[in-house]
Amino acid sequence: MGLLLKSLFPRMGLVLAIFFYSAKQEFKVEMLKGKRVIVTGASSGIGEQMAYHLARTGSHILITARTEDKLQKVSTQCRELGAASIHYVSGSMENMAFAQEVVKEAEKLWGGLDMLILNHIGSTYFGYFKGDTEHLRKLLEINVLSYVTMTVSALPMLKESRGSIVAVSSLAGKVGTPFTVPYSTTKFALDGFFSSLRQMLVVENANVSITLCVLGYINTDTAMKTVSHVIRNKPAPKEECALEIIKSGALRQRELHYPYISVTIPLLLRDWAPDFLDSLTRNNMDIEKVKRT
Ligand SMILES: NC(=O)c1ccc[n+]([C@@H]2O[C@H](COP(=O)([O-])OP(=O)(O)OC[C@H]3O[C@@H](n4cnc5c(N)ncnc54)[C@H](OP(=O)(O)O)[C@@H]3O)[C@@H](O)[C@H]2O)c1
Ligand SMILES: *[C@@H]1O[C@H](CO)[C@@H](O)[C@H](O)[C@H]1NC(C)=O
Repeated sequence: MGLLLKSLFPRMGLVLAIFFYSAKQEFKVEMLKGKRVIVTGASSGIGEQMAYHLARTGSHILITARTEDKLQKVSTQCRELGAASIHYVSGSMENMAFAQEVVKEAEKLWGGLDMLILNHIGSTYFGYFKGDTEHLRKLLEINVLSYVTMTVSALPMLKESRGSIVAVSSLAGKVGTPFTVPYSTTKFALDGFFSSLRQMLVVENANVSITLCVLGYINTDTAMKTVSHVIRNKPAPKEECALEIIKSGALRQRELHYPYISVTIPLLLRDWAPDFLDSLTRNNMDIEKVKRT
């Protein structure tokens, strides 16, 4: 006890003091002006909104997804909103050669890269786990392996620019939820890869920030279509969500919790009262409404 009082408490005090008094850096538009940014899954939803925010800040943007005509429309809008430049490449992230190609395109266009925003996901179901390992394998490729592939390809440029990686994940990638077995498997994997890589980069003295975005329920068309009949609480707006993601990357934050309260409380409960958290999570759903197939 004496030792505790003498050494641990003063140190804890110091840590708390630093935590509370370190002036939190504020986001400024200039942080992203002229920066070279890749956004994946930018043809719809949160990715599309991120492209618009980046355009308003005057970034150089490269967007990607499968559907070319949607990417074309998003590009036109980005040009009107003030992007320093806007390009797109269409293709599927099932294909790792394509994932590499997107990064190469950025190198060709700009000779470097400041921010890599990984946001795309393959389509999956919200429902009873079907034991379909082939679906899970494909989803792991799209949601995880392509993130790893793009990260590996982009790291030399990001080290050079002291850039940032932003990986979009979910509360379902931190906490077990029913009806999302394949999806959660892939999102938990992102936490493993990026949290470990963050440590690796520190050890290597590489100044590349990694931000893991832990998102709650957001009102994108895909989410509304798949879960709105089951989830009881109200979704948060995709426009604000997209802005918070971009800010968190620019500020080089370790994690983003959005919406803050509805993500942070489950994360606090997770280690202390996991069974209680599990039942809260189930109670937040109208399980009767999930179709058995
Ligand atoms: N909405 C939510 O409630 C919520 C909650 C937590 C986390 N998140 C996360 O937020 C991110 C964005 O979600 P969202 O709701 O905005 O989804 P979304 O609107 O469905 O967007 C998904 C994007 O990925 C692209 N995509 C799909 N399959 C692809 C493939 N095989 N190869 C390349 N691109 C592909 C889609 O475009 P194409 O179809 O044109 O390829 C689209 O641009 C995801 O990482 C998701 O896990 C969302
Ligand atoms: C890492 O890079 C950022 C952005 O360039 C810079 O603000 C920060 O001071 C750098 N940190 C270190 C430890 O060099």
